[in-house]
Amino acid sequence: MNETLVRAVLAEYVLPWNGIHGLRHWGRVLENGQRLAERTGADGDVVELFALFHDSRRVNEGSDPGHGLRGGDFARTLWERGLFDLSEEQFDLLHHACELHTAGQVDGDVTVQTCWDADRLDLARVWIIPDPRFLCTEAAKDEGVLSWAIERSRSNHQVTAVGTWLEWLSRGP
Ligand SMILES: [Fe+2]
Ligand SMILES: [Fe+2]
Repeated sequence: MNETLVRAVLAEYVLPWNGIHGLRHWGRVLENGQRLAERTGADGDVVELFALFHDSRRVNEGSDPGHGLRGGDFARTLWERGLFDLSEEQFDLLHHACELHTAGQVDGDVTVQTCWDADRLDLARVWIIPDPRFLCTEAAKDEGVLSWAIERSRSNHQVTAVGTWLEWLSRGP
């Protein structure tokens, strides 16, 4: 995830960076996804980009219908501009994962499932304990993984990548 890409996404993010769908959430989704991918075999590039894009086009902190599709379409714009490299097949997975991340589905390609679980594992930040019935992968249902993710959600943990993003942005436009 390079500086140009992160700047391009944040330049268009209209909600507070420190909001419940803001940078700390994106960072935890990133690390949740990386941890799950080690076990699920998901495509790590897609999972990382999902963290950045899935909530990037929200216009409110509520249910905001359509924000997943807008995030996927925004990813397409930046992909076509060459801001990140994915094959068409990988991009389709990213777009699909973004579009349907709030649809409550649990079945699908393992990369898409890993994306959805990475997001759902951060629900405790809004005092919802992730329900294993609504998780897609065995990796996410693992007790150790669940308690690790819940603790980080509740404490609004800031992952290292977010510190890096903020440092880039502190250098100005
Ligand atoms: Fe979302
Ligand atoms: Fe999210």
